Formats: sequence, structure tokens, C-alpha cells
Amino acid sequence: MSKHVVAPVSDIPPGGKKLVTVRGRPIVIFNLEGEYFGLLNRCPHQGGSLCDGVITGLVQSTDPGKYSFTRQGEIIRCPWHGWEFDIRTGQSWCEPARVQVRAYPVEVAHGDTLMAPEGASGERVEDPYVAETVQVSVENDYIVVDV
Ligand code: FES
Repeated sequence: MSKHVVAPVSDIPPGGKKLVTVRGRPIVIFNLEGEYFGLLNRCPHQGGSLCDGVITGLVQSTDPGKYSFTRQGEIIRCPWHGWEFDIRTGQSWCEPARVQVRAYPVEVAHGDTLMAPEGASGERVEDPYVAETVQVSVENDYIVVDV
């Protein structure tokens, strides 16, 4: 897997989502009150775009007429046939043991940690050639997806 900067954090407000493409894969990034999660933007049922779905919560029932509504904002409902998925894990609520949306690790990285290239083992690489440089600072945070 390799890490890809996909957006500044300011692009996705809390409760929001954004569709990005990383290495040809459509991935929808969700912001759950400052925690970021990435799901493949393809419903495992028939391929609906989860980015176009409604963000909702979890409805559970123990008995007829009794239900609870929890985890507001943590469930995405596919716009085509209504299958629901846990935004945190990609787990289906239709058939949890078998059906799941591919989930991708997402992190937030400060801009100044993204400046230098990394080697294959993740260490910072010093090039043998040095060009004239100017002082640059990056102050924003960015969303990074591991694909
Ligand atoms: S394509 Fe998503 S529920 Fe059918």
C-alpha cells in the first residue's frame, strides 16, 4: 500500500463526504466529527455510488414496535436499493457476515510532514543533488489515504 494526499481537511467539513480517485479507484472520504474514513465508492450489491447515498444512523429493534436510533451520521445508505453500510468499517447491515464495502485507512497529516519524498521503507530520502531553495512553510492539514 502507498499513501496519497487527496485533499486539505477544509474540503470535508464534519458530517461531509468527498469523492476522490486514487490509483484509478473511486474512494469516498467521510468526516465523522473529525475522524476520517474511506470506502470504495461502489456498493457490493449492484455498484451504486455510495457518495450519492444518504448519511443516516443505525436503527435496531428488539421487539415489534420497539426500536432505537443510534450512531447518527455513521451509516451510509446506498441510493439505489437502500443497503446500509457502517462508514467506520464498510460492514453491511443487510448481510454482515458476507457483504462488506472495501475500506481504506485514512489519516490526517500536517503539510510540513509531506514535503520530502520517502524511500521504499518509509524513511526520508536525501537526494545527492541540491538545487537553490527558498524557505517554504505549509501550515494546513491534509487527508491522506493508504491504497
Ligand atoms: S446497488 Fe447498492 S443497494 Fe443495490
